[in-house]
Amino acid sequence: MVVGFIGAGSIGGAVITGLVRNGFDNDQIVVKGGKSNTAKDLQSQLGFQMVPKIKQMTEPEVIFIAVGITALDSVLSELQPIIEDKLIVTFTGGATIAQLKKKLGSDAKVATAIPNTPVKVGAGFTGISYSDNFELADKKKVSSVLGYTGQVVEVPEEQLSTIGTVAGCSPAFLDLFLEALSDAGVKHGLSRKLAYEAAIGMAIGASKLAKQSDLTVPELKDEVTSPGGSTIRGVAALEENGFRNAVIKAVDAAEGVD
Ligand SMILES: NC(=O)c1ccc[n+]([C@@H]2O[C@H](COP(=O)([O-])OP(=O)(O)OC[C@H]3O[C@@H](n4cnc5c(N)ncnc54)[C@H](OP(=O)(O)O)[C@@H]3O)[C@@H](O)[C@H]2O)c1
Repeated sequence: MVVGFIGAGSIGGAVITGLVRNGFDNDQIVVKGGKSNTAKDLQSQLGFQMVPKIKQMTEPEVIFIAVGITALDSVLSELQPIIEDKLIVTFTGGATIAQLKKKLGSDAKVATAIPNTPVKVGAGFTGISYSDNFELADKKKVSSVLGYTGQVVEVPEEQLSTIGTVAGCSPAFLDLFLEALSDAGVKHGLSRKLAYEAAIGMAIGASKLAKQSDLTVPELKDEVTSPGGSTIRGVAALEENGFRNAVIKAVDAAEGVD
């Protein structure tokens, strides 16, 4: 199946990279880039096809739109004459299914999705909401493509923004935690390299365990906190310093609420 991308910046580029690096045929990807050389530079690494105009994207069955909100309107206008029965998936933050349909027509099959940057390494999490006329076979088609980049989960549109924060903004939150943890390691005598190796290795392993274990996340925490031990003292110190509240406030802030 041929897929198209309009925009290959941070998130478009991350998804294309995830597809190609995880086995999706680069010959089956058609990209329309913007004004800079970003898309061309990526093409020289990944070898997909490029077209200079959106109206030339006739071949793709699925088109992913990965431009910012200010470019969206003109992109949709250019896309509208060629959509036929194409499946249109936009990553543009703030674009709603109703807005997309208003612009592309009520019969258009549209979806909004929020991938996160781990898609680049095939370990992404993409929340996606589909318009009512998306059939099961259409959803399977889109999931089969995005599946190359990691997990794809359908969510109600009203929850998409929160999913975007919990899975999409939080790689930055986790990076901050990993940096802080490595600072602590260095404070206690580890080399920076070893401290990062330990912190990142832990995060990968703990996440894998949380995903695969029959235990819940709190039960996994309980398993490591022996009575009177060092881990529960660390947990208490994190709570004393507002760790849980800081995380909740970070999500509130990203969502734009107090
Ligand atoms: N970054 C993330 O982690 C993330 C995750 C999920 C969703 N999103 C959403 O995805 C959207 C894009 O974000 P981003 O971070 O990827 O922004 P970005 O890095 O600025 O990428 C946007 C790309 O769109 C290209 N573009 C603009 N107009 C175009 C046109 N008419 N035709 C083809 N390409 C065009 C730009 O190309 P030139 O610069 O070459 O003109 C640019 O490379 C935003 O709405 C954002 O909220 C981002």
